Amino acid sequence: MRNRLVAGNWKMNKTPAQTDVFINRFLELVDSNHAAEILLLPPFTSLDWAGKLLAAVGISLGAQDLYFEPGGPFTGEISTEMLLACHCSYVLVGHSERRTILNENETLVNRKVLAATASGIRPILCVGETLTEHQQRKARERICFQLEHGLAGMDQQDAASVVIAYEPLWAIGTGETASAQAAQETINMIRKWLAVAYDDSLSRRIRILYGGSVNPENTAALLDQPDIDGVLVGGASLSPETFAQIANCAGQSAT
Ligand code: PGA
Repeated sequence: MRNRLVAGNWKMNKTPAQTDVFINRFLELVDSNHAAEILLLPPFTSLDWAGKLLAAVGISLGAQDLYFEPGGPFTGEISTEMLLACHCSYVLVGHSERRTILNENETLVNRKVLAATASGIRPILCVGETLTEHQQRKARERICFQLEHGLAGMDQQDAASVVIAYEPLWAIGTGETASAQAAQETINMIRKWLAVAYDDSLSRRIRILYGGSVNPENTAALLDQPDIDGVLVGGASLSPETFAQIANCAGQSAT
């Protein structure tokens, strides 16, 4: 049985003081016995503070990126050891904004995925097609390419700890969501890919999220789909009110 996961990716938003305000308000609004796992992904500078606030309340914490080296002359980078010290149990890898704006390639994404799992942090590997690939019906090709390279060299046991996030680029921050049916079809295709690359049991166990303009109105329909195990929320995770609505909705559909 796959536990639902609702992740809030704050991107480059919120100072530690704003993080504090958000978390305190969010805790007032979220169902105390929510059935879904809730995960916050604040910027690096808020991780330490968020980790202290969240440790006791059963909400998971993750980072938006990492570097694959354990330490040394890598100016500006953050290691898995640093993330673990802030109580991170997840890390986003290969978000489309890092792939497109910061030119992260498949090799770098793969090294980060491997470094995360080696340290015991669960990577959330982001995959998804561009608008042009979508229009040219090349989504499947793009996503399989990203899976093949992103998970290269990963054995069965480590792969079981990975979460996949399907985020079509044309749906990120645009207000356009893939229909629940279309998201289900693509995520089912990802599950089939995993069954061939690994086996049926791993494919059934691995959690796959949908991301791209998720909001309180479209969450229930997305989570009603048999292969969608949760949502990766950007803009709508910045408000404690909307993110609590999404988390509470996911908690209900999980029961
Ligand atoms: P969005 O972002 O919800 O604002 O579309 C999702 C993401 O980039 O993870």
